[in-house]
Amino acid sequence: MKPIITLAGLVLAVASAFAQAEPIVIKFSHVVAEDTPKGKGALMFKRLVEERLPGQVSVEVYPNSSLYGDANELEALRNNEVQLLAPSLAKFEQYTKQLQVFDLPFLFDDLDAVNRFQKRAKGRQLLRAMEDENITGLAYWHNGMKQLSATRALRMPSDASGLAFRIQPSAVLESQFAQLGAAANKIAFSKVFTSLQDGTVQGAENPWSNIYSQKMHTVQPYITETNHGVLDYMLVSNTRFWFGIPHQIRTELEGIIDEVTYEVNRAAEDANQADRASILQAGTSEIITLTPEEREAWRAKMRPVWQQFGSVIGEDIINAAQTVNRKQRN
Ligand code: SIN
Repeated sequence: MKPIITLAGLVLAVASAFAQAEPIVIKFSHVVAEDTPKGKGALMFKRLVEERLPGQVSVEVYPNSSLYGDANELEALRNNEVQLLAPSLAKFEQYTKQLQVFDLPFLFDDLDAVNRFQKRAKGRQLLRAMEDENITGLAYWHNGMKQLSATRALRMPSDASGLAFRIQPSAVLESQFAQLGAAANKIAFSKVFTSLQDGTVQGAENPWSNIYSQKMHTVQPYITETNHGVLDYMLVSNTRFWFGIPHQIRTELEGIIDEVTYEVNRAAEDANQADRASILQAGTSEIITLTPEEREAWRAKMRPVWQQFGSVIGEDIINAAQTVNRKQRN
């Protein structure tokens, strides 16, 4: 018997052939400038995907909060309106408390220690902490250690008393500034420069890369090199979108992410140090370096935050994070 091809069947077959010919579009939105560790990582991801998966996947990168900003990017991801983000780890509080471990002050000695924690079992486990929320962690990307900037010289913790600092939306960071007798205002990253410029807040905490790329040094006459915390990112996708990508293409994308992650993390510290040098050269801010005793005073003052958030974050996670420092402390 001859097969009967109906018109409707033909239309469906043609439509599905076209559907398969359409590339998968990945919108990658972020809030920083392109010349930063994250900005460069996003562009490298786009370049490698378009070289290796031409016609199959296309990547659109939206920097500087030009598509979504802090207020709405994670909801947009969960609704699959954007497919890749790399928010700072402080911005996931609404979806998991476990990632707050990264906000604890003076937990990690340096970026190498952060790196070791992220590679160990507990760190890798945290990439999966938000899957029930339809958010899948694909990698950690470094930016760098945070420095305190202000309109006043901050040498001892008491110098920060009475100032208002901009913070990311994190209860841990709020408590950190409360220990100093300072106010903390949660402000979206896109508004940080103007908030510092118009005096809404008098200080902030950022890695060198964000200070320099946002020109914060032009409105913050003092920057204290505290290295008191880390600002890193989790590259995340919408779980249903990500696992719906055909297996072969997803495997290729995961390989590309590994390559980009290696490069972002290899280059981040040097990029931050280059931006520190540019700030020094600009001569707009005095960079204050602390003696070991002064740094210890900041550490001791902020330390009660650990007790406050120990059970919220999970003591097992905090203990695992502590073991990555080369020098063990009490
Ligand atoms: C970012 O580096 O993505 C912004 C972090 C912040 O809001 O301070």
